[in-house]
Amino acid sequence: MTSSDAISNEQEAAKRNLWLHFTRMSAYADSEVPVIVRGSGAYVYDQHGKQYLDGLSGLFVSQVGHGRTEIAEAGARQASELAYFPLWSYAHPKAIELAARLADMAPGDLNRVFFTTSGSEAVESAWKLAKQYFKLTGEPGRYKVISRELAYHGTSMGALAVTGLADIKHAFEPLTPGGVRVPNTNFYRAPDFLAGDEEQFGQWAADEIERAILREGPSSVAAVYLEPVQNSGGCFPPPPGYFQRVREICDQYGVLLVSDEVICAFGRLGYYFGSERYGYQPDIITFAKGVTSGYSPLGGMMVSDRLMEPFTAGTATFLHGITFAGHPVSSAMALANLDIFEKEDLLGNVRSNEAAFRATLEKLYDLPIVGDVRGAGYFYGIEMVKDKVTRETFSDDESERLLRGFLSHALFDAGLVCRADDRGDPVIQLSPPLICGQEHFDEIERILREVLTEAWTRL
Ligand SMILES: Cc1ncc(COP(=O)(O)O)c(C=O)c1O
Repeated sequence: MTSSDAISNEQEAAKRNLWLHFTRMSAYADSEVPVIVRGSGAYVYDQHGKQYLDGLSGLFVSQVGHGRTEIAEAGARQASELAYFPLWSYAHPKAIELAARLADMAPGDLNRVFFTTSGSEAVESAWKLAKQYFKLTGEPGRYKVISRELAYHGTSMGALAVTGLADIKHAFEPLTPGGVRVPNTNFYRAPDFLAGDEEQFGQWAADEIERAILREGPSSVAAVYLEPVQNSGGCFPPPPGYFQRVREICDQYGVLLVSDEVICAFGRLGYYFGSERYGYQPDIITFAKGVTSGYSPLGGMMVSDRLMEPFTAGTATFLHGITFAGHPVSSAMALANLDIFEKEDLLGNVRSNEAAFRATLEKLYDLPIVGDVRGAGYFYGIEMVKDKVTRETFSDDESERLLRGFLSHALFDAGLVCRADDRGDPVIQLSPPLICGQEHFDEIERILREVLTEAWTRL
């Protein structure tokens, strides 16, 4: 069989047998499914050998970059020694070692790690913990969770109820009851009476959480879920003072603060945890993605002794578990991943280069379509607008033509993996591996400039 026969057989099977996630399968009826076969450093390669800069770290995952044989070898060693054993009633050495290492790294008193295999399971686990914790501590009415408009917290039924994206929820209603929405921190789209004063905007957005708690009844609210920098909608950093005010509100009403760091932990913002960067102490951190840099699936939540205390005596048990959570191979690979963070000072790399990343992306402001460049660390969103002065956005139809009809393919064809998204206003999202430097930023800027210039002429 020639290599072109093999590629065409693979295409046929990809279309016939494989179901891609969040993907219009019809989009591939007359075109090839992109097949990524190999990765090395910040680059990945498709079935034809074409190179792409992985400007999204896969899906906010590949912190240390691709092709790290030391992580692969750590996984192989673990699989030969003990491929699998559950964390139901038993422990295994790599899960213990990883839990202890994460406890050392985590902010404040978060020292108990409950592993999962994914971010949705981590979000779901935190909600279940909050509910059972309050039942055990004499506040059984607390079950609601507050989160922000447009925020993505996962797809399982509970996590979907925390998620703030109406379009991906309707098909699955009724959802788990108790999800309550508050405004996000999109300062570019701040209400007129707060435009121009970021700090005041932040206080207002935090106070909206208090108003929601009061509206719902404080004794019914269990937790507030917030990402340090909100991904969906296009990277909304917290205004100064926002998290400090949220912490005060949570303390005042006895509500747990869950920092959903599925994207923002493990160096994405230049710190092991995003909450460290913004100086707040969560009650629970949820994590996944970057903990293994994607070499194997793993997620989890970290909590303090205080939240675990009701489960430590007598017959009390947290009634929750997942077969593959804290998998030995994933745990071993997470440890090898964290070794690379230390050896190569990846946090230092992000901190010393993030201003250059921002400055390089901000060069794009000279394009008429670029309305806002926002983010932190190695995590940026570029909002596209029809009119820079009025900030007018695109109609649904224009957005469809711009994003799906042109940008998504054109950026990929030009050699850049990133995400063109219109779940809020249209944005391009970037989240390169933490090993990247100026040459990668320049390559990202060059490709975006070419493709966005072309996009403008097609409108
Ligand atoms: C903040 C946040 N929470 C939860 C999730 C869900 O994670 P997973 O896809 O691993 O279930 C994601 C995924 O992108 C996320 O960004």
